[in-house]
Amino acid sequence: MAEKISFEAPRGMRDFYPEDMTWRNKVFDAFRASADAYGFEPYDACVVESYDLLARKAGEEVGEQIYHFYDKSERHIALRAEMTPTLARMVAQRQKELRFPLKWTTIAQCFRYERMTKGRKREHYQWNLDIIGEDSVLAEEEVIGAAVDALKRMGLGSGDFKVHVSSRKFLGELLAKSGIAPDLHAQVFLALDKRGKMPDSEIAAMMKDGGLSDADVSAAFAIMDTKEYAGCAELEELFELARTAGFADSLVFDISVIRGLSYYTGVVFECFDTKGEFRAIFGGGRYDNLLTTIGGEPTSAVGLGFGDVVVTELLKARLGDGAAAEKKGVAVGFMFPEQRDAAVRLAAKLRGEGERVDLALRSQKPKKFFSHADQSGAAKAVFLGPDDIEKGVARIKDMSTREEKEIAL
Ligand code: HAM
Repeated sequence: MAEKISFEAPRGMRDFYPEDMTWRNKVFDAFRASADAYGFEPYDACVVESYDLLARKAGEEVGEQIYHFYDKSERHIALRAEMTPTLARMVAQRQKELRFPLKWTTIAQCFRYERMTKGRKREHYQWNLDIIGEDSVLAEEEVIGAAVDALKRMGLGSGDFKVHVSSRKFLGELLAKSGIAPDLHAQVFLALDKRGKMPDSEIAAMMKDGGLSDADVSAAFAIMDTKEYAGCAELEELFELARTAGFADSLVFDISVIRGLSYYTGVVFECFDTKGEFRAIFGGGRYDNLLTTIGGEPTSAVGLGFGDVVVTELLKARLGDGAAAEKKGVAVGFMFPEQRDAAVRLAAKLRGEGERVDLALRSQKPKKFFSHADQSGAAKAVFLGPDDIEKGVARIKDMSTREEKEIAL
């Protein structure tokens, strides 16, 4: 006898059964519609990359979570953990020909060997929006605006989520004012980004390991109590633009948003549900140096990544588990083998008219047919029996209202 293997997907990886696909499609449809409404162009790339491109400085969480391996020619290959390095590579490759600013979008499957918690899988789809080659904070307004628009298309209201916004430049200025040397700031960002995820004592130890004095550490923690962005021109302008665009009610200033990736240089943001039940819905910011880091020409950039996992959990919690399923199409069934041809003909006719038709594959009793039609989410159903064929008319039933209408066969 064959050895039985596990029926489960590898830990952290996901299967999508049809009921899962209804959710995934709902989320992806909103991603695509918003990207389009905001004028982003789609692009795509390979899922594997060279390890060197993806791996970054030690201490960065994502770098440690990369799935990597050697191919048969000993190339060091990795599955992408995020899209941004690939995007930077693609832009750098054609930097002379491309017309900036670029507004590009993709839905990329990403892999991270994460510790499995709520909202974190080892594989997820991440919607990316990036604007490359624009210094103005209008770029931040457009990417955040599009992401807020997507959440609304999915059925959430502005009371369900908030985009927490800060600026690394602003935080850097505050740190400098407190006397913390600029070359220690990256260390401070890295440590403070862990707030809420590990005890403050460990964060303090991280900063001290990075070369900060006790006074520096206390100053860094004190800055985390800053409640206003006054003095930060780019944040003031961003909030003003969001007011003009009509989504300022979805933004809050939050100095504790730092972001775990080291390439961010200016505005940074992260979206959370207002009840604080879930992990970050999306996150992003300005990263003006990434292209030069990989050897390209200096180019400013702003973007975000919006995963499918957290938002689907949030939607299920707020809208209900079945909310993604919509009734659609016509189910066609028949009672005896003698009506099969008529059913096939009717299905062909309806499909020709542009209907989605789910044709029963064998004769069955009406009760069974209608209960299947109900379960499979058909909006309408037609069942053919001997009498219908004789009369040349059938009844098409609306599955929600139970109303019936006659149609000619
Ligand atoms: P990130 O914050 O690492 O940023 O990820 C962005 C979003 O992807 C998160 O807010 C979350 O929705 C989702 N996500 C990340 N990891 C997982 C996981 N293991 N399971 C489920 N969902 C996950 C970036 O990746 C940046 N590259 C975004 C960006 C684009 N910045 C500029 N352009």
